[in-house]
Amino acid sequence: MWKRFRKQDISTNSIVASHPRPHNHLIELRDVVKAYQTPVGNFIALDGVTLTIDRGEFVAVVGKSGSGKSTMINMITGIDRPSSGEILVDGLPVHTLKEGPMAQWRGRNIGVIFQFFQLLPMLSILENVILPMDFCKVHDSKDREAIAMNLLEQVDMADQAHKLPSEVSGGQQQRAAIARALANDPPILVADEPTGNLDSRSAIAIFELFHNLVDSGKTILMVTHDNDLARRVGRTVTLADGSILNEHLTKVFPMLTHDLLLKATRQIQPQTYQPGNTIIQAGDLPDKFYLVTAGQADVLVPDGNGDQKVVAHLQTGQYFGEIAILNGSTRMATVKASGETAVNVVALEKDTFHNLVGSSPAMHQAVSRVADQRVKAASV
Ligand SMILES: Nc1ncnc2c1ncn2[C@@H]1O[C@H](COP(=O)(O)OP(=O)(O)OP(=O)(O)O)[C@@H](O)[C@H]1O
Ligand SMILES: [Mg+2]
Repeated sequence: MWKRFRKQDISTNSIVASHPRPHNHLIELRDVVKAYQTPVGNFIALDGVTLTIDRGEFVAVVGKSGSGKSTMINMITGIDRPSSGEILVDGLPVHTLKEGPMAQWRGRNIGVIFQFFQLLPMLSILENVILPMDFCKVHDSKDREAIAMNLLEQVDMADQAHKLPSEVSGGQQQRAAIARALANDPPILVADEPTGNLDSRSAIAIFELFHNLVDSGKTILMVTHDNDLARRVGRTVTLADGSILNEHLTKVFPMLTHDLLLKATRQIQPQTYQPGNTIIQAGDLPDKFYLVTAGQADVLVPDGNGDQKVVAHLQTGQYFGEIAILNGSTRMATVKASGETAVNVVALEKDTFHNLVGSSPAMHQAVSRVADQRVKAASV
């Protein structure tokens, strides 16, 4: 088994030490559009993508083939440029960098890992790992070989250091490629299908290595087709037709197709309520369905003595407002923003919600089951 990365093994560089840090987010995409010119006209590969990733997050990027995953991560690494929009990494607008400074910046700050390892075939494994050090000059030249050997040791490849890439297995080449990506101790790792060409045991081993790197302070974005792996990371970003699906909606209703989730994402209305404010009122006719995206809300029903009692606390990722829509009745409960901070919700119009629920028996069953439990709990 590979050695675990410890905090002292891999320290994280600050991206651009002199750069001011007005943002909390490490990576920020603002309304990024990427259009490709094709013989049959413009093709929109990214359709206004807005995304933030915080320091230390491990994010899986999923979506069907052609949904825009590689295009999106190529924007973050600066391998490709947006047609419009902004990409900020630690506050630095990377899309404005010219070719030379971009390559230097990338070399120091982002370790890039591809599906097909892309090691140089005529260089040894060790020389492949040293190469980015020679380019960026983060480490003293006299130290480079020792640092490279140390990295290879950590991915359990030290004994293969003097072989050519063609002389080791695919899993071993990918481990070498990870050591190479770590050569300049970048704070961010971006991997495009790093396990796509590996058997499942090697894939799991690479995945565990990524987890250890996140524990040591790295931020990782990993494109994957492997849903099992994606489920085991902190956060999943799903692309469909060049757009990011609403993360909360996708998590709560994983049984919906990407097409339906995309339609719903486009119709979502973000709303904010201050603590104590009413979001829905018992007795009203239902007009919307809600999903909590930040903060906390209380569900209140009459207690029989002319007062109200709290029957549930709703947290981020929970939904409400479905019962009256499903039953064609008036609202049975009042929901208020509670807690100390404002509550963010996303709302969907009643008809949109109806369409989602009616789209599959699995969806109908899941939502009805929750609604039945809630009605029972409120009447106790
Ligand atoms: N250089 C290009 N010119 C024209 N269209 C392109 C170009 N690069 C990508 N595309 C198109 O943009 C869309 C998104 O491509 P992208 O490579 O980002 O998809 P992906 O989600 O990474 O797919 P996969 O899972 O197959 O790797 C695709 O329809 C693709 O055909
Ligand atoms: Mg791709």
